[in-house]
Amino acid sequence: MSTATPIQKFDITAEEIDALVGLFYQRIRAHPMLGPIFARAIASQDGPEWRAHEARIAAFWRNAIGIDRSYDGNPMQVHRANRDIHPGMFSTWLDLFHMTAAEVLSPEKAANMSALAERIGQSLRYGVTTRDEQRGAPPILR
Ligand code: HEM
Repeated sequence: MSTATPIQKFDITAEEIDALVGLFYQRIRAHPMLGPIFARAIASQDGPEWRAHEARIAAFWRNAIGIDRSYDGNPMQVHRANRDIHPGMFSTWLDLFHMTAAEVLSPEKAANMSALAERIGQSLRYGVTTRDEQRGAPPILR
C-alpha cells in the first residue's frame, strides 16, 4: 500500500526516516574517521545535542523527499564551513548510509533513499572540493 502524498518523490514515512536517522548517527558516533568530526561539531557524548541534530536531519530528509517543509538550513554552507570535512570522506559516509538504509527499510525504499543521498552527497562533495581549491591548496582527494 502506498502512503505517499502526491508531492512526495517516493513512498516513505516520517517514522521510517526517524528509524534510519537514529541508527545511522549511532554508527556515525562510533565510526573511527567520521565520529570525531561529529563529536567536535555536535557533542562528544550521546545526549540532547544529538537528539536535536537528528531531529534537524530528519526534517532535512522530509524536505528533500517532499513530505513537509519544516527544514530551514543550508547544508552546502554548513559543510563548506566545516574545515574537518574533506572530499574523500563522502564515499565512507555514503557507504555507511547505504548499509544502514538497506537494514532499516524495504529494498525499494532503501534504493530510493540511497539514490537521493548519492545525488546530494555528490553535490556537497563538489562544494567542499571547490572550497579547498579556492583556498589555493591542492584538493585532498583521499
Ligand atoms: C564527508 C561526509 C560528511 C561529513 C563528515 C558530514 C559532517 C557533518 C557535520 C559535522 C555536521 C554538523 C554541522 C557542522 O559541521 O557544524 C553536518 C550537518 C549536516 N549534514 Fe553532513 N556530513 C557529511 C555528508 C553529508 C551528506 C552526504 C548529507 C546529505 C545527504 C549531509 C547532511 C547534513 C545535514 C542536512 C546537516 C545539517 C545542516 C544544518 O545545520 O542545517 N551530510 N554534517
